[in-house]
Amino acid sequence: MNHFQYRDGVLHAEEVPVRTLLEEYGSPLYIYSSATFRRHFKAFDSAFEGLDHLTCYSVKANSNVHILKMLGEMGAGTDIVSGGELHRAMAAGIKPEKIVYSGVAKTALEIRQALSAGILMFNAESLDELRLIDSVARDMGKVAPVALRINPDVDPQTHPYISTGMKKNKFGLDMETALEGYRLAKDAEGLNPIGIDCHIGSQLTSIAPFLEALDKVLAFVERLKEMGLELSYMDLGGGLGITYDEEEPPHPKEFGQALSERLKGVGLKIILEPGRVIAGNAGILAFQVIYTKESEIKKFLIVDAAMNDLVRPSLYGSYHRIAEVEPKGRPMETVDVVGGICETTDFLASDRDLPWAEQGEYLAAFSAGAYGFTMASQYNSRPRPAEVLVDGDSSRLIRRRETYQDLIAPETNL
Ligand code: LLP
Repeated sequence: MNHFQYRDGVLHAEEVPVRTLLEEYGSPLYIYSSATFRRHFKAFDSAFEGLDHLTCYSVKANSNVHILKMLGEMGAGTDIVSGGELHRAMAAGIKPEKIVYSGVAKTALEIRQALSAGILMFNAESLDELRLIDSVARDMGKVAPVALRINPDVDPQTHPYISTGMKKNKFGLDMETALEGYRLAKDAEGLNPIGIDCHIGSQLTSIAPFLEALDKVLAFVERLKEMGLELSYMDLGGGLGITYDEEEPPHPKEFGQALSERLKGVGLKIILEPGRVIAGNAGILAFQVIYTKESEIKKFLIVDAAMNDLVRPSLYGSYHRIAEVEPKGRPMETVDVVGGICETTDFLASDRDLPWAEQGEYLAAFSAGAYGFTMASQYNSRPRPAEVLVDGDSSRLIRRRETYQDLIAPETNL
C-alpha cells in the first residue's frame, strides 16, 4: 500500500495533487510520501518484534538526509557502504551505535572515520580488509567491532546484476576463508569479532533463498562456537523485493515470521538492512512530455526526464509503471518513453501501452523511491532533479534542483 493514488481522476501524493507539486517545484521531480515511508518502516520493523533486533535502513536505496532523519526518529539505524553514507547518516542524527558498515572496498581513511564515529560494527568482506581494519584500529588505540560477511552460495533468483550471494560474486567470504578470518580476528589486538553477516541479493520475491542462506549461517555459527567464539550479532542483510509490475513478493510480516521461526532461541541480536522495501514505493518520478514523434514503426513520447534521472530501465531493463498524472481516457498505443540523452539505451519504458499523451502533459514513473535519485547522475550535463517530501496536505523541498553552476562548481578554482 502506498499513498500515490488517483482521487477525482487525478494523481495525488497523499493529499496533494501531483500537478500542483510540478507547478511549484518544476519538472522532472522526485516526489516522496512520508506516510508511505513511515508505514513501510513500521510494517517491516514490527514484523520482527518478537526478536531482539535492529532495523538498519540501507542508505544506498534513498540517502536524502531528511529521509534518513525521518526514519531515524522512528528508531531506524542505518546500513552504510561508504564514508559518504557515514557522513549522511551522522548528519541526519543517526546514532553511531546503530550504524553497520558493509562493502568490499573500504579504504583506510573510511575505516578511520567509522572508528572515530564509533559505529556498531564493520561487516568485513575479505582477509585483507580485516588486516587493514586491525592495523588502523591499533594505530588509533581502538578495538574495532567486526562481523564477517559470509557468502553462502545461494541463488537468490533475481536479476544477475543484483545477486550477491553466489560463489562467483565479489561479495563476502566462502565458509572456509571466513573460518580463517574469524581465527585471525580472534587473535588480532585491534579486532573484536562480535557478529556474522550475510546479504544474498536484492529484489527477492520469495522467502526460500533467505531461509536457505540463514540455515547455512546458523550451521556456521555452530562451528564458531566449537572454536570457542561466541558472537552477539547476526546481520541478515536486506533484499526483500517489492511490486513494480506483477511481482508478488512476500509481505514483510510473512518474511519476519518465517525468519523469526528459525531464529528463536539463537540468542543473537538480529540486524536487518532493508532498503527497497522501505523506499521503493514511497516515491515517484514525475515529468513532462516535451515532444511526440512517430516513425514508420515506433511512437515516441519524448520527456524531460532521462536515464540520468532514473537509470534502472537502462541499466537492468527494469520495469517502472508509467501513467498519466491526469488521465484523459484516451485509447492505449504502444509507445517508447524516452529522454533527451544521446544514448539508445535512454528510455524509461519501451513498447509500453500508454495513451498518446500530448506536449506539455505530465506523466509519472512509479516505484522510483529506491535506487532512483541515488543512482542519478549529471550525464549530458543535466542538473539532477529536485526532491520533495509530502506529508498530508503539505510539501517541502528536501533537495533543491541543481543549477548549471552546480555542474561546474567543483571544476573551478583548480
Ligand atoms: N545490504 C547490503 C549489504 C546491500 O548490498 C544491499 C543492496 C542492501 C542491504 C539493501 O538491499 P535492498 O533491501 O534494497 O534490496 N541498484 C539496484 C539494487 C542494488 C542493491 C545493492 N545492495 C536496483 O536498482 O535494483
